Amino acid sequence: METFQDYYGNQVRLSLQDTPFSDRPKHVWVVCHFHRQWLLTRHSRRGFEFPGGKVEQGETAEDAAKREVFEETGGRVASLFLLGQYEVSGRNEQIVKNIYYAEIDRMDLKEDYLETKGPVFINRIPEKIQTDKRFSFLMKDRVLASAMDAIRIRRLDTSGLEN
Ligand code: GTP
Repeated sequence: METFQDYYGNQVRLSLQDTPFSDRPKHVWVVCHFHRQWLLTRHSRRGFEFPGGKVEQGETAEDAAKREVFEETGGRVASLFLLGQYEVSGRNEQIVKNIYYAEIDRMDLKEDYLETKGPVFINRIPEKIQTDKRFSFLMKDRVLASAMDAIRIRRLDTSGLEN
């Protein structure tokens, strides 16, 4: 378990061994990999980030992960791996998010990507992402770096992609 502060100073607890904070997390975040590239979405306000969002009523977290990836990027999830879970304690509420790694095997062109402007492909995560204004705050705390380490350690991205 790691504990740190996010970009806004909120406390984050992160586990990449298990899902200790909730059996029914209300949020999901999906690190997406498509043909040797990372697949992100361009959020209208926040900037580039891996896709994700809220689990809807009657939906499993896995279903939400696949739906959000498709809605925000047009990507079709071929395989989905649970990496772990994190909890953000904000001023008024706590949110719990499952983190997944997804292999995407197909991109569909869509007319509408909801709150986002659709897919963004990058070869590597910039070293100085914390100060890179193109990227969302979601990409600027230890969650991303630790998730990338877990993907590497578990050898999930077999294509030899660089982080
Ligand atoms: P929308 O309905 O999507 O606009 O959501 P919201 O702005 O009400 O935020 P949400 O319920 O998703 O999250 C509440 C707060 O938790 C946000 O304002 C953020 O400060 C924080 N938060 C949400 N997701 C993350 C995350 O992945 N990482 C970090 N560090 N903070 C997050």
